[in-house]
Amino acid sequence: MQRNNGAWAYLCLLALFLLLWGMALLLPPAAVETDAIPPEPVEVPFPSQEEEVPGPSGEGEKLLALTFDDGPRRLTTQRLLDGLAQRGVKATFFLIGRQIEGNEDLLHRMEEEGHEIGIHTYDHVPLTGLNAADFDAQVGRTRTLLEKVLGHGDFLLRPPYGMTDPAAKNRAGSPLVLWSVDPEDWRDRDAERVWNHIVQNAQDGDIILLHDIFPQSVDAALEAVDRLLAQGYHFCTVGELFAARRIELKNGRAYTDARP
Ligand code: NI
Repeated sequence: MQRNNGAWAYLCLLALFLLLWGMALLLPPAAVETDAIPPEPVEVPFPSQEEEVPGPSGEGEKLLALTFDDGPRRLTTQRLLDGLAQRGVKATFFLIGRQIEGNEDLLHRMEEEGHEIGIHTYDHVPLTGLNAADFDAQVGRTRTLLEKVLGHGDFLLRPPYGMTDPAAKNRAGSPLVLWSVDPEDWRDRDAERVWNHIVQNAQDGDIILLHDIFPQSVDAALEAVDRLLAQGYHFCTVGELFAARRIELKNGRAYTDARP
């Protein structure tokens, strides 16, 4: 009995040891158990929707849209594009349809450098008093040409001389973009007078009218840009200006500015 008892105790100890050893192997390490517990939700301060976050188009900044009509004209338009690129400034170009052929590279460059392209009729004629066919030959034809060159549609329309009437608005098929600052750069082609007019009259949300077909207008535009940049203005395209002000541009409606 003594020997049996000793053997029994030995077997019991062995079994206990094996049981504990097996449990130690089978039970996952304590650290794994802890990891498996989902972490406590951490309170992260979330920016309020009201908070103003400046967007790429300069929301919350003083904005101006430079617009250039009657181009493209290779020498002057090219020099203007060079000057705008040096300053990181974007503008909007309202093009004459009949001047597009041979200048397609300039149109591509405009878009590549972030500028916006719009329609300024095929032959630079007033949109008022045109019948449907003539309107289409001026606006529709230019739109089709731009679509062919650029591969997309949706172009803003600037009516020559700013002249519109209900029929023109009905037929436009685009938003009509007028202006709020006009230095009349075509009048005397005096660069200093022109940039002075722009710098003295420009306000947040203005659309500035210039013509990139005169060398003096290019000089005036770049001088005005330098002075207005120094005053904290940010230059954007017409589309970006209205988007930043949350104004939806509608076909057949005319817009002169996006002042606050
Ligand atoms: Ni014009």
